[in-house]
Amino acid sequence: MYLLGYYLVVLLTVVVTVRAGRNVRAKDLKVTLPSGDKMSMIGFGTGGINGVKTMTNILDDALSAGYRLIDAAAFYENEEDIGIALKELLPKHHLTRNDIFITSKLAPKKDLFGEHAYEALKQAIQRFGTDYIDLYLIHFPGYFPLPEPNMNFSALRDETWKQLVKGQKEGLVRNIGVSNYNIRQLKELLRNDHGVKPAINQVEWHPDYHQDELLKFCKKQGVALQAYFSLGGVNNKTVLLEKPEVKQIAIKLRKSPSQVLLKWALQQNVLVVPGSRTRKHMDQNLDLNFKIPEADMKILNNLKQAGRISMFPDIII
Ligand SMILES: NC(=O)c1ccc[n+]([C@@H]2O[C@H](COP(=O)([O-])OP(=O)(O)OC[C@H]3O[C@@H](n4cnc5c(N)ncnc54)[C@H](OP(=O)(O)O)[C@@H]3O)[C@@H](O)[C@H]2O)c1
Repeated sequence: MYLLGYYLVVLLTVVVTVRAGRNVRAKDLKVTLPSGDKMSMIGFGTGGINGVKTMTNILDDALSAGYRLIDAAAFYENEEDIGIALKELLPKHHLTRNDIFITSKLAPKKDLFGEHAYEALKQAIQRFGTDYIDLYLIHFPGYFPLPEPNMNFSALRDETWKQLVKGQKEGLVRNIGVSNYNIRQLKELLRNDHGVKPAINQVEWHPDYHQDELLKFCKKQGVALQAYFSLGGVNNKTVLLEKPEVKQIAIKLRKSPSQVLLKWALQQNVLVVPGSRTRKHMDQNLDLNFKIPEADMKILNNLKQAGRISMFPDIII
């Protein structure tokens, strides 16, 4: 009888432990940035969402679903909309500014690059109507329209970074990073980082376009890689969501194609910021407590890469 009781306790402990492990909700998954700040592995992309009313409605749903990281950019012209929306929504959701992680990006414009970057950061903070931004990225390793083919942006990138480091030291921004950087541009930055390593590199990343060498390099350097267009982007989503291999794996795992695409990234420690205007999709994109078997990961990794979707110019030196 005593032995039976003992075995029951052991069995119960194992079941509770396994269930608890399984129940680490995807929305609670975090990475630690070089500053020590913790950042959600799944954020909410706001590209293409504009207007205070629209933004408020969509962020209301996103916060209810559980998103706490908001990915914005000056280029999306929605920093002010987000700021106004959050003023109304934070109290409504019993949240404070510190519960939310705001990412924004320096627009790839000539008059914001180089020595102007510090001022651009201050203006972004003003647009959000907040005291600080959690993460500020150089959106693109140059600006466009490109002034001349093969223009070398090295010196300008260096000055831009120096200005963002100043912003971080002054507490205007907690973390700084880059976006759309290749290995060469990252190496250049790491060689002369003015005392602050980039926290993340946000790049296009999905089964039709993934740069494995870049991921390896970022992991080695402790730079988190964050994916955009995980679902193929607003205009091209059907390409990825309806890919037969993605659909087959989704059916097999009883998940949606979007969940497979997001989990494929997360399982390689690539962070994601899916965008959505649909509450059901927002929920689905946070419901990622499953594992893609290695054989299926291989299938997705080995799909013929169709190439990138983003319209950024190819050649930036
Ligand atoms: N750093 C950069 O250069 C850069 C460039 C582009 C984008 N970004 C960032 O990355 C974010 C994500 O990109 P994105 O929003 O353009 O593209 P995305 O996340 O790849 O795809 C968004 C599209 O997928 C649909 N979708 C979302 N969840 C779905 C689901 N569960 N099932 C079916 N469809 C679903 C959405 O439709 P519904 O609205 O109907 O859900 C929307 O049309 C942007 O918002 C932006 O923050 C960064």
